[in-house]
Amino acid sequence: MQKKEPHQPVLLAEVIKYLAIDRDGIYIDATFGRGGHARQILQSLGDKGRLIAIDKDPAAVAYARQQWGHDRRFKIYQGSFKQIKAIAKIENVIAKVSGLLLDLGVSSPQLDQPERGFSFLRDGPLDMRMDPSVGISAAEWLVSATEKEIAQVLKDYGEERYAKRIARAIVEERKLKPIVTTVHLATVVKFAHPRWERHKHPATQTFQAIRIRINNELEDLKVCLEQSLEVLKLGGRLLVISFHSLEDRIVKRFIRQYTHETVELKKLPFMPAGWRPKLKNLGRGIKPNAYAINVNPRSRSAVLRIAEKIS
Ligand SMILES: C[S@@+](CC[C@H](N)C(=O)[O-])C[C@H]1O[C@@H](n2cnc3c(N)ncnc32)[C@H](O)[C@@H]1O
Repeated sequence: MQKKEPHQPVLLAEVIKYLAIDRDGIYIDATFGRGGHARQILQSLGDKGRLIAIDKDPAAVAYARQQWGHDRRFKIYQGSFKQIKAIAKIENVIAKVSGLLLDLGVSSPQLDQPERGFSFLRDGPLDMRMDPSVGISAAEWLVSATEKEIAQVLKDYGEERYAKRIARAIVEERKLKPIVTTVHLATVVKFAHPRWERHKHPATQTFQAIRIRINNELEDLKVCLEQSLEVLKLGGRLLVISFHSLEDRIVKRFIRQYTHETVELKKLPFMPAGWRPKLKNLGRGIKPNAYAINVNPRSRSAVLRIAEKIS
C-alpha cells in the first residue's frame, strides 16, 4: 500500500505538466507545506537542477530539512513569499527561475493539529498564525479589534453576508468571557448566524476571514506576484493554486494586467520593448476532476492558473 502523504498535493499532475520541468532548471516552491509538489519536482530534476522552497511555518521548514536537508539541489527558507525577490537575490537566481509555484492557503497538518487553532472542528487555542512567532494570534486580535473592524474583516475577507450580526455577537460574548479557543468562537458564530447551509459549518467564512487577516494573506500574495516578474526568466512559468474567490480574483487580475495589449498599441508598426505584454496566459483556470475531489475533498475549491513570462 502507498504511504499516505501528510498533505495530499492538489492538482499534482497538472502542476508537473505545466511546470514542464527542465532537468537543469531552477524552480521555486514558495508554499512548501509538506513537500507534496516539491517531492515530484525534485524527482524530475537532474544533478544540476535546483529547488528553492519557502514556507512561513516553522513546522513545514523542519519537515523539509529532515526530508531533504542532505539534498544539495534543495534549499528552504523560513519566511513569507512576499520576500521572494530578496531570497532570489541571495540565491543569485534573479531572472533565472524556470518555474514558480504558489499553492495558497493552509496545509492539512495546520488544519489537523488543534493546537494551531485553524479548525472550527477541533478545539484548541485560537491562534491561526502560520508562523506563531510573528504578529498577534486570532484570540489577541479578537480582544483588541473594534466591532466595526471585525465586521469589515468578515465582510472583506470572508464575504460573510451576516458580518455585522456576527461581529456584534463576538463583542457581546467577549464582555462575558474572552474568546480564546476555536470551538468557543465557532459556537458564538453558529448561534449568531441566521442561515445554516447543508454540508457547511456556519463559521467557515468567519474562520477564513480571520485567518486571512492574521496572516496578511492577500497583501503577501499581491507583493509576491509583482516580484515574480523579476524572478522568472524569459519562458519561465508562474503557477498559482487558489482556494477561494478572493485569491483567485487577485491572480486573474494580475495575469490580465500583464497580458494586456491595448488596441492602440497593437496598431503600432513595432512595439517598444518596455510596452510589450510581460505575460502570456496559459489556460483558463484548471479545476480538479470529480475523482480527484473524491480522493482529496480539500481540493474541491482549487483553481490553478498559469502564466508564462514572455518579455
Ligand atoms: C496548501 S499548503 C501547500 C502544500 C504543498 N504544496 C504540499 O503539497 O505539501 C500552503 C503552505 O503555504 C504556507 N504559506 C501560506 N502563506 C504563505 C506565505 N505568505 N509565505 C510563505 N508560506 C506561506 C503555509 O504555511 C502552508 O504550509
